[in-house]
Amino acid sequence: MGSFLGFYFVTLNILAITTFAPVTAAEELAVGGGAGWRQPGANETEMYSHWAATRRFRIGDSLRFEYKNDSVVVVDKWGYYHCNASHPISVYNTGNTIINIEKSGPMYFVSGDPEHCKNGQRLLVEVIRVHQDSPAPSPLSSAASSSVFSNFVFLCIVLITASSIM
Ligand SMILES: *[C@@H]1O[C@H](CO)[C@@H](O)[C@H](O)[C@H]1NC(C)=O
Ligand SMILES: *[C@@H]1O[C@H](CO)[C@@H](O)[C@H](O)[C@H]1NC(C)=O
Ligand SMILES: *[C@@H]1O[C@H](CO)[C@@H](O)[C@H](O)[C@H]1NC(C)=O
Repeated sequence: MGSFLGFYFVTLNILAITTFAPVTAAEELAVGGGAGWRQPGANETEMYSHWAATRRFRIGDSLRFEYKNDSVVVVDKWGYYHCNASHPISVYNTGNTIINIEKSGPMYFVSGDPEHCKNGQRLLVEVIRVHQDSPAPSPLSSAASSSVFSNFVFLCIVLITASSIM
């Protein structure tokens, strides 16, 4: 019986970890993935919007920009759409910049080089609100919900086994 209870609580712990970890863990997201922060090629001008579209951005996460001979300029919406960095919110040019996400809403980034920006080196990130938990249609969230479901099934089996032992 003791070992059964031990098993049961281990199960509960696994359940808690697998159910809640994806929701709460802060992530550092490498902008552009392996490509980093650079001027896109002619056939990949949408690379940063594609990159952003496949991810969720939450308060507490951070964005890492890795680049050479370039810069990261945080701008407003106007600066983003006009590729104009002349009214920056902040400017970074160290080659390795980490920006913490501190509030919900849109965040706009451009290269300080207007030509790079016009060729697609700009990023719009939509930071979701803390209490907004409508699932995004991403593979990650469907994996998470199916793991919640399989955990639930597993818990039911454990409980049925428990009641038949006792
Ligand atoms: C187009 O993209 C492919 C794969 O991402 C790459 O191999 C190729 O060199 C690119 N061509 C140009 C012209 O950028
Ligand atoms: C970086 O900029 C310097 C000075 O403008 C230039 O000499 C060098 O070739 C550039 N490097 C790359 C990788 O573009
Ligand atoms: C950016 O906008 C300002 C006006 O706010 C303008 O004077 C400047 O020429 C623009 N720069 C570029 C590169 O378009």
